[in-house]
Amino acid sequence: MKLIDGKKIATEIKQEIAIEVNKIIENGGRQPHLAAILVGHDGGSETYVAFKIKDCGEVGFKSSLIRFEDHVTEEELLAKVHELNNDDGLDGFIVQLPLPKHISEQKIIEAINPKKDVDGFHPENVGRMVIGLPAFVSATPFGIVELLKRYNIETSGKNCVVLGRSNIVGRPMSILMSQKAINATVTVAHSRTKNLKEVCKNADILIVAMGFPEFIKGDMVKEGAVVIDVGTTRVKSDKTKSGWKLKGDVLFDEVAEKCSYITPVPGGVGPMTRVSLLLNTLLSAKKEIYK
Ligand code: GUN
Repeated sequence: MKLIDGKKIATEIKQEIAIEVNKIIENGGRQPHLAAILVGHDGGSETYVAFKIKDCGEVGFKSSLIRFEDHVTEEELLAKVHELNNDDGLDGFIVQLPLPKHISEQKIIEAINPKKDVDGFHPENVGRMVIGLPAFVSATPFGIVELLKRYNIETSGKNCVVLGRSNIVGRPMSILMSQKAINATVTVAHSRTKNLKEVCKNADILIVAMGFPEFIKGDMVKEGAVVIDVGTTRVKSDKTKSGWKLKGDVLFDEVAEKCSYITPVPGGVGPMTRVSLLLNTLLSAKKEIYK
């Protein structure tokens, strides 16, 4: 079994991005600039956004954090989105989800200029990705494809099972895996799938994005499979300083014995998700998606 070291690959990519940023500036361009809108004070969202801001600093991007309280109105948020859409000094921005219940997430996502939608959530980017046009692709699937490439994992003609069908992970992941550059034969499995164990056992590449900690056991995985674990459930732990630890959707010790490659949690997909937002912002700064 080989461990897929997402942390190491993400560090390498960050170094590559930093070199690109230096080149842009040497050639008289401006620093790539990412903004994040954060509504309220949810602990998870605060952490994710803080990471995004920190990551920007590490590669030489400018970053801006725009905060609103939970009681912000949809109109106020839409006004900010329009302002950022028209800000020529900004390459991309994200609105951290989830939003408070009184705000329509879909309405906010659809208000974002697709050319600045570095999360890849706007229907225009999703549609472009589906038909194989250059597009901002949501960060987790983008990062997983990059991991498979950098580990030279054969995908052509392989059976790929994606567990989960969310708009930001499972669904786009399944589309990317079936595209011509990757050429896998894809099955999307979900909570209503029958004979899930058999479906999983058929996978040469198993990508698990369900959010059920340690759901995938050793007897659900084919000998020699590649297993990608997207799960990140926080569970209480008395063994860590923070009092909690991250658990993946895969029972690591059992599954690792059987597979050819596996991503750990933490240190697998997570760092690649973070670096993919930087890659999308760089693509936007270089006008490589919408030319
Ligand atoms: N909430 C959880 N993941 C994400 C993400 O990738 N982008 C945004 N904007 N919100 C999230």
